[in-house]
Amino acid sequence: MNEKQRTESQQVKESRPTDKKSEKDYSKYFEKTYAAPSLKDAKRRGKEAVQYHNDFSISEQFRDMGKGRKFLIRTYGCQMNEHDTEVMAGIFMALGYEPTTDVKETNVILLNTCAIRENAENKVFGELGHLKALKRENPDLLIGVCGCMSQEESVVNRILQKHQFVDMIFGTHNIHRLPNILQDAYMSKEMVVEVWSKEGDIIENLPKVRKGNIKGWVNIMYGCDKFCTYCIVPFTRGKERSRRPEDIIQEVRHLAAQGYQEVTLLGQNVNAYGKDFTDMKYGLGDLMDEIRKIDIPRIRFTTSHPRDFDDRLIEVLAKGGNLVDHIHLPVQSGSSEVLKIMARKYNREQYLELVRKIKAAIPNVSLTTDIIVGYPNETEEQFEETLSLYKEVGYDAAYTFIYSPREGTPAAKMVDNVPMSVKKERLQRLNAVVNEISAQKMLEHKGQIVDVLVEGESKNNPDVLAGYTTKSKLVNFVGPKSAIGQIVKVRITDAKTWSLNGEMVDQIIEVK
Ligand code: SAH
Ligand code: SF4
Ligand code: F3S
Repeated sequence: MNEKQRTESQQVKESRPTDKKSEKDYSKYFEKTYAAPSLKDAKRRGKEAVQYHNDFSISEQFRDMGKGRKFLIRTYGCQMNEHDTEVMAGIFMALGYEPTTDVKETNVILLNTCAIRENAENKVFGELGHLKALKRENPDLLIGVCGCMSQEESVVNRILQKHQFVDMIFGTHNIHRLPNILQDAYMSKEMVVEVWSKEGDIIENLPKVRKGNIKGWVNIMYGCDKFCTYCIVPFTRGKERSRRPEDIIQEVRHLAAQGYQEVTLLGQNVNAYGKDFTDMKYGLGDLMDEIRKIDIPRIRFTTSHPRDFDDRLIEVLAKGGNLVDHIHLPVQSGSSEVLKIMARKYNREQYLELVRKIKAAIPNVSLTTDIIVGYPNETEEQFEETLSLYKEVGYDAAYTFIYSPREGTPAAKMVDNVPMSVKKERLQRLNAVVNEISAQKMLEHKGQIVDVLVEGESKNNPDVLAGYTTKSKLVNFVGPKSAIGQIVKVRITDAKTWSLNGEMVDQIIEVK
């Protein structure tokens, strides 16, 4: 934190009538607390036991809060945020609000934000600029900022200073407090700030309204303890904490009974699942081995950390069935030296050995990855090691990023001798390889018959249907609307870099 930020953060604390005791006493789950974020507190680990709550309820006093009112949530970032949005939508609906997609008719707008890179944050500040005009036209509109950005002091300070029309800011640990926060925002003229910088708990009985009825997300764990030196997530999401297997299994069974075709198990580091249990030895492999017995066609999980990917999990995934043949396995860099300063806790050889084991057990597996280029002081040779690793593994696809310094992380303090022009050029070179290999992998599908989970009409042409294979390849084909929500067989006729075209070989029996 620099001097300016230090004074700014003091100003925030001084301008808030905070009762220090209640700020730290998170046991007051359903009482009024004001708190500004602290990355320093968010970094602490190990002192607080995980509390499992099953006692969420909508208080009588809030029952009619949403009557005649509408809500809109804009979501940025990863699936964890998408799923948090489903929970917040559930709370809004329980309060009697109706959903809308029209900013002109909504009474509340929430921005569920992402802090992973600077451009993610810039998008949100850009959106706040637009919302200012809307607020001027409609002063009764409530505007809220939540999600990972609200866990950062610098963001909260900037909003307090430059975007005073914002009515509420609340953190990722405060979602269950939404009814109280809304109530405070309606009553108060000041901005309501409630961001707990704690290790985190688990609340089991929060309501949810899922987006769609074909694919569902199920959290299996929260938080991250890996502290990769570039990453803000351990600060914004708290420590690794696992949901109990019985709660997860019940939720997946429930989705299966409702006719969902695919479930994605979610966590920032799902391979650490169960490590925090003190009463039993139970990991992701054990969980997957139980979930695969549930009658649901497709089970995925994300995101895998290579370090904790164990043999038990490989053995279970090799059983196939509804466990799909696609694994997202972020590598970040192909250079052992860079991986070391990233604190990824594996080196190039260990990663390649893991890939070898996975491929031996699941011969038709497709792998995708995340890569950061331009890490502080990354040399040309180190970057070339990333290119060579990419080719050696032969990934189906990758998300590629230029390193973005995040305040509060160790990497942000490193002196960096790589100019932005070099980083951009490396990203282009990497993307050229990514595209080339993706196109090759797509071509392998030509002439094959694949199973496609049909999600809806194609974005560009309502006469064409679009869906995904088990390997997460987008397939476009002509078919009847009754195929939407089902898994159908499609013969691939044409392969592009990022999608496939095909023709349906199944005939759907019309049930309606
Ligand atoms: N938990 C996941 C990653 C979640 S963040 C994992 O460890 O694999 C998604 C991706 O964003 C990361 O894999 C990384 O490639 C990228 N990322 C994270 N922090 C970044 C930063 N500061 N700059 C650029 N990319 C970053
Ligand atoms: Fe970030 Fe690393 Fe945790 Fe992934 S494992 S969320 S990259 S700290
Ligand atoms: Fe972004 Fe937070 Fe996810 S920083 S990537 S929304 S965990």
